[in-house]
Amino acid sequence: MSSNIETHQIETRVFKPSKDFSKTSLVGSLAEYKKLHAASLKAPAKFWAGQAADLFWRKKWKTVLDWKPPFAKWFVGGQLNASENCLDRHLDGPRRNKAAIIWEGEPGEKRVLTYQQLHREVCVFANILKRNGAKKGDRVIIYLPHIPEAAIAMLACARIGAVHSVIFGGFSSTSIRDRIEDCGATLVVTADAGYRRGQTVTLKQNVDQALEGVTTVKRVIVFRRAGLDIHIQEGRDVWWHREAEYVSADCPAVALDSEHPLFILYTSGSTGKPKGILHTTAGYLLGAVITTKYVFDLKENDTYWCTADIGWITGHSYIVYGPLASGATVLMYEGAPNWPQPDRFWKIVAEYGVTILYTAPTAIRAFMKWGDEWPKKHDLSSLRLLGTVGEPINPEAWIWYHKNIGAERCPIVDTWWQTETGAMMITPLPGAIPAKPGTATLPFFGIDAAIVDDKGQEVGPNEGGKLVIRKPWPSMLRTIYGDKARYKQAYWSEVKGCYFTGDGARRDKDGYFWIVGRIDDVLNVAGHRLGTAEVESALVGHDDVAEAAVVGRPDEMKGQAVVAFVTLRNGIPATKELAEKIRKHVGNVIGPIAKPDEIRFTEALPKTRSGKIMRRLLKQIASGQAVTGDTTTLEDLSVLAKLKQGDE
Ligand code: WTA
Repeated sequence: MSSNIETHQIETRVFKPSKDFSKTSLVGSLAEYKKLHAASLKAPAKFWAGQAADLFWRKKWKTVLDWKPPFAKWFVGGQLNASENCLDRHLDGPRRNKAAIIWEGEPGEKRVLTYQQLHREVCVFANILKRNGAKKGDRVIIYLPHIPEAAIAMLACARIGAVHSVIFGGFSSTSIRDRIEDCGATLVVTADAGYRRGQTVTLKQNVDQALEGVTTVKRVIVFRRAGLDIHIQEGRDVWWHREAEYVSADCPAVALDSEHPLFILYTSGSTGKPKGILHTTAGYLLGAVITTKYVFDLKENDTYWCTADIGWITGHSYIVYGPLASGATVLMYEGAPNWPQPDRFWKIVAEYGVTILYTAPTAIRAFMKWGDEWPKKHDLSSLRLLGTVGEPINPEAWIWYHKNIGAERCPIVDTWWQTETGAMMITPLPGAIPAKPGTATLPFFGIDAAIVDDKGQEVGPNEGGKLVIRKPWPSMLRTIYGDKARYKQAYWSEVKGCYFTGDGARRDKDGYFWIVGRIDDVLNVAGHRLGTAEVESALVGHDDVAEAAVVGRPDEMKGQAVVAFVTLRNGIPATKELAEKIRKHVGNVIGPIAKPDEIRFTEALPKTRSGKIMRRLLKQIASGQAVTGDTTTLEDLSVLAKLKQGDE
């Protein structure tokens, strides 16, 4: 029996780039993309060297790539500084007084930082870091709300060669402690509190708890965001604003080797302790910059909004490093999309004239669930390009986004990539590659993506297999911090000579990549291997369904039975009849083998804090096991409790 993943659902809708859009794009046709992509794979060193000219170098590199699998060094011998690339290089021209960051707080405050102002703030904070003992190579934890200071702190670290590790503000003290201990951080940057859905999130208190018994951290720098009365530990904690009084605004960026570590970002492995993904300076920055340029088709007067949090890779690459190094105007919003009402995003788009919006499928499904009336209240005509990232987007959500947000006018870029890849890998170029709802389409320049079977052989059209990358690329992770063996084992041992992504996928007859889900989540029903994405898409295709997750439960007859956890749209009652209708619907769309054996209605699905469904927990619940393993990355613990109650 073949272990390849089967495909049953074929999406046939195609959306070509409009002539007007193509005319002004960097790459204006499919033929041109194909030519450039083929050339980039034929002579990768030449291609990347040409692109690297976009960066500002202190010293030019000697060798483009030193590849001793699986360890890569890019632009060897070169020197540069990421903070200088994002700031100083814009100060001599018309961007000096251009808005770099436009920020809105959840309670409604507004701030604009021009490139000149941002540069100054970063220099001040870099001096504060130095004054508090931070040196080149030291690890600095950044645990802040979604405020400009998060970007300022990152760029200040980069400026002096300290390695930042940002922890999303929603993580608890245990998660903070694990990460501090893993990377041996010496300094923590935090705030008294942040805001989320009208509540204050007491960040400093979490840091205090996390630091109990931790010996490496010598200093905690606290930004005053909410004006809370907080505990200050003498000799360890200092206020950001007080420290600023002691330092100058003059802090030249240090020249760093291309391979100098830029940051560590923790990503939850499906099991075990989080992995500290290490990215280095030149290659990472190059990946972020050139994808920003080609995929977002960035223009000088765009107002660009990526709704991710800075604590995720999407925020690192597409709020901070990519857009700022490109001189873009970046919008940042601190809070929840439904605060105080479900139209907060659309209000922001209208008010600031947002032109590019980059968000996640989980957010789009939430908007669908809340109802079409919310975006309708606002003028969204400034938008010209939409994007998604984080999960496969089911075609229904794609179409909803296209119609209700993009007014059938804006191209959608469905970008596939990972914390580990640093930058987008498989994605449409909006003026060149026709979109099909549900696929990230074709690989970016220089990226050699393929789908292989268990033996590492490339599979044919529409046959499912493992998604791998066959050539190194500049923004790839360099290692897992402190654990080379795990790096080799997790990414380079599954398929010989290739980077294994962990994702299952297929390519259609046009060569488009369709991600069918994580390989670990693939269902095996009566000898048929089915991707979770396909079954979930069919479920969400039913009018009453807002969101769904499917998992396998051990079954004596079939190997695995399909269990579907389903959230209904607002106001739809959960009945046995509806469950039966939904089962039939999936049977009609995909075929009888994918028909869920069981439908479980639930108010919400367990998700990670970046919005990914935690199928591992659902699998345990579906098979009646106790929930074990790491649940610290779960967004809302009460969801788990409710799911378990439903079990009894
Ligand atoms: C999934 C986020 C389908 C995939 C940048 C990947 C996607 C994982 C897409 C990485 C997409 C991300 N289509 N699946 N457009 N984008 N994924 O590290 O499973 O948070 O391996 O990086 O998300 O998630 P991470």
